[in-house]
Amino acid sequence: MGKDVIIACDFSSKNDVLTFLDRFTGRKPFVKIGMELYYSEGPEIVREIKRRGHSIFLDLKLHDIPNTVKKAMSVLSRLDVDMCNLHAAGTAAMMTSAIEGLTRPDGSRPLLIAVTQLTSTSEERMKNELLIDRPLDEVVMSYAQNAAKAGLDGVVCSPLEAGKVHSVCGSSFLTVTPGIRFAGGDVGDQVRITTPADAKTLGSDYIVVGRPITAAQDPVAAYERCLAEFVG
Ligand code: C5P
Repeated sequence: MGKDVIIACDFSSKNDVLTFLDRFTGRKPFVKIGMELYYSEGPEIVREIKRRGHSIFLDLKLHDIPNTVKKAMSVLSRLDVDMCNLHAAGTAAMMTSAIEGLTRPDGSRPLLIAVTQLTSTSEERMKNELLIDRPLDEVVMSYAQNAAKAGLDGVVCSPLEAGKVHSVCGSSFLTVTPGIRFAGGDVGDQVRITTPADAKTLGSDYIVVGRPITAAQDPVAAYERCLAEFVG
């Protein structure tokens, strides 16, 4: 599995996302569709972007009882996406059911990635509100191991955690890493950031890049800079 740059298409309308993607006349980028776009445009936007030749990471972060997640994953598997995700906090039973639901009759399935702890959750909030007393890093690695044992393909994490995830879960267990900024670029609301080049050095398998590409003067040039730094 090769390293790749995934563009977070955080747009709220079909028109905005298709206008953005029309700029990419050469290589078709791997695209992340999140809740905002999916909830506003529905499954048809996934089919449309797939028809245009893009690989798709459908970032809906499922978290419910095992049977519900299994049935929802079965529906999503028919959308022919390349990667989708869930919350590891749903437990191993939920993750196992998710894989069952996601597996198509011919045995194929999209990659399934787990969210461990959201990067917006601080250790303090985890302790005070979720009543989890262990250090955040230990929780992330333990959830990653649960995901690996359940047969998932990887986790969403910071590039700063990618090396440790690989050492705990194996080098083929994927690390999909947001929080990417160019050197000297606008940080926005991200806190623990790395450049595409550093993410490569740290061992990320996929980088997820939103605003450094979507808000750039020249998004295609920004995408190509990411590819050059990360894929080489
Ligand atoms: O614009 P930016 O590059 O910050 O976008 C990063 C993308 O990755 C957004 O779609 C954000 O929701 C997502 N993400 C994240 N941190 C996580 C999980 C997902 O930034 N832990």
